[in-house]
Amino acid sequence: MAPIISIKNITKSYDNGFQALKGASLDIEKGEIIALLGPNGAGKTTLIGAICGLVKITSGTVTVGGFDAVTQPRDARRMIGLVPQEIALDIFETVWNSVKFSRGLFGCRPDDAYLEKVLKSLSLWDKKDEKNQALSGGMKRRVMIAKALSHNPTILFLDEPSAGVDVALRRDMWEVVRKLREDGVTVILTTHYIEEAEEMADRVAVINKGEILLVQDKDALMASFGKKHLVMELNDPLAALPAGLEAYDLSLSENGTQLTYAYDTNAERTGLTRMIAELAERGISVHDLASRENSLEEVFLTLVGDDTLAAQEAKA
Ligand SMILES: Nc1ncnc2c1ncn2[C@@H]1O[C@H](COP(=O)(O)OP(=O)(O)O)[C@@H](O)[C@H]1O
Ligand SMILES: [Mg+2]
Repeated sequence: MAPIISIKNITKSYDNGFQALKGASLDIEKGEIIALLGPNGAGKTTLIGAICGLVKITSGTVTVGGFDAVTQPRDARRMIGLVPQEIALDIFETVWNSVKFSRGLFGCRPDDAYLEKVLKSLSLWDKKDEKNQALSGGMKRRVMIAKALSHNPTILFLDEPSAGVDVALRRDMWEVVRKLREDGVTVILTTHYIEEAEEMADRVAVINKGEILLVQDKDALMASFGKKHLVMELNDPLAALPAGLEAYDLSLSENGTQLTYAYDTNAERTGLTRMIAELAERGISVHDLASRENSLEEVFLTLVGDDTLAAQEAKA
């Protein structure tokens, strides 16, 4: 199936000459939840803006549902709902009118039945006659989502849905997003929280300094990084991996002095004891052991660098 969004080699230089995107490419499949994970300033909002036609790209192409985001912006934009990071609501307006007005802005014919469905799916129906100012923070965010869904988009962008949001509200948001996916909506969310990407996404794209560093299936990413590695320093270097140990995920360093065993920490049996016994049987002796664990956090740190994250922490 053709991707619903196709981004090819886009660059963006802002007027002051700053290059916020340096040749990003990404295909997004219909119905998936993809997380754009990256530290502050990585270019996430710029990338979203480029897809939604809010940021004029310097070069490259973006298509949305087959429409070119630059030359056919209205067709492309019609398919998209965008929830910006900041809550922006007319506080004196009711929930119902806010949503209805948003639909009108897209030039869509009124469809109260559809809007009712949207509000019900977001548990906002009983609040429809309340003024926005009377709502809790979580409910306000839901209204933002309802507004973004008011014109029947098939793609929803959530820019930092849980920045500055407390833990309970964050879980609430995640629940809402899962429900949207069940309804067939493609969801693209940006986040600088690893936990959020881990929790929500089918796929994760790691972005830093205007570049997409990695795009991978979340489960595969977690599986490969949910592994622990036992690093064994050998007394005598080996020329090759010992025969008969193919059942173990072993790798040998180039100089032959370091043997690394990758094992799944979630498995019932890690095979550690037997593997070490088998090494001993072959006369391979070990003079030091160390284990290291991988997590999405570690991958992220490796990709974006500790200093970037430290700067982010300092700012937060
Ligand atoms: N209008 C602008 N003019 C100049 N630089 C900008 C502008 N908007 C964003 N930037 C810069 O582009 C980079 C990426 O910004 P942004 O896409 O907002 O990152 P993110 O959403 O990942 O935090 C940042 O360094 C930011 O300062
Ligand atoms: Mg941003």
